[in-house]
Parts: sequence; C-alpha cells; structure tokens
Amino acid sequence: MMRLKQVGGFLIVALITGGGGASAQAAPAPGGAPAADKGAVVYVAQKCSLCHSLDGKGNAKGPLDGVGLKWSADEIRQWIVTPAEMGAKAQATRKPAMKAFASLPKEDLDALVAFLHAKKKK
Ligand code: HEC
Repeated sequence: MMRLKQVGGFLIVALITGGGGASAQAAPAPGGAPAADKGAVVYVAQKCSLCHSLDGKGNAKGPLDGVGLKWSADEIRQWIVTPAEMGAKAQATRKPAMKAFASLPKEDLDALVAFLHAKKKK
C-alpha cells in the first residue's frame, strides 16, 4: 500500500510540472488581450534587453522578472509610453533613463504589456 501511494504522488507531481510549462504558454492573457507570445517578439524587436533582463538574459541592471507583481497592466503600459512620469513616480535613478516607446502600434503595445504583465515569477 505504502508503495502505491508513493507512486501516485510521483505521478501527480510529474503531471503538475509537465503541464505547467505548456499551459503557461497557451494561457490566454486576461481581459481578452492578445497572447503574450507576440509581446515577446515586440520585446526583442524594440531591444528592451539593452537595459532590461528576463530570465537572466539581457542587462542585469534592469530585471523585469516578476514585473507583473510590481505593476498593474496599466502601469506597465505607462512605463512604456511615458517612462519619464513613471520614473519620477517610482523615484528611479538608473541611467540612461528609459526612452518613451510612444509610437508603437496599439497591437504591439497591447501584446508587450500582456507579455510583461504575465511575468509574475521573480
Ligand atoms: C535606455 C535604457 C532602457 C530601455 C531601452 C528600456 N528601458 Fe525600461 N527602464 C529603464 C530604466 C532606467 C527604468 C527605471 C527603473 C530602473 O531603475 O530600473 C526602466 C523601467 C521599466 C519598467 C518598470 C520596471 C520596474 O521594475 O519598476 C518597465 C516595465 C520597463 N522599463 C519596460 C521596458 C520595455 C518594455 C522596454 C522596451 C520597449 C524598455 N523598458 C526599454 C531603461 C530602459
């Protein structure tokens, strides 16, 4: 009996860890926003990693891991569009200061916000 229980426990762990990765990718962003995948493409195309890092890749001075816990989606949007104002609010002192990415097409901006807001793991 003991052995059976252990085997069962192992299977459940395997299911959780195995399914976690797949569903995290496929999970739709809240509020019907576009999938975060496109946001990852925008993040790379806009070279955010010159000043920021995710999962240890990019500029380690500006980690964005867990940024979805720190800021709401609206606030992340404001960081991208009006970083000077958000920087003042957050009393950010890092240089060079973030430039505004105000001319991003709305779909790209939405996707980028969804991508970053989904980053809830430090
Ligand atoms: C020239 C450097 C630079 C670039 C390029 C840049 N940022 Fe930033 N960003 C900053 C600085 C400086 C801050 C202020 C916070 C800090 O001190 O790290 C910041 C803050 C942020 C924050 C708030 C982070 C927090 O922990 O409070 C977000 C979100 C963000 N940037 C997203 C982006 C995205 C998305 C891009 C690409 C479209 C981008 N940034 C490009 C320099 C940059």
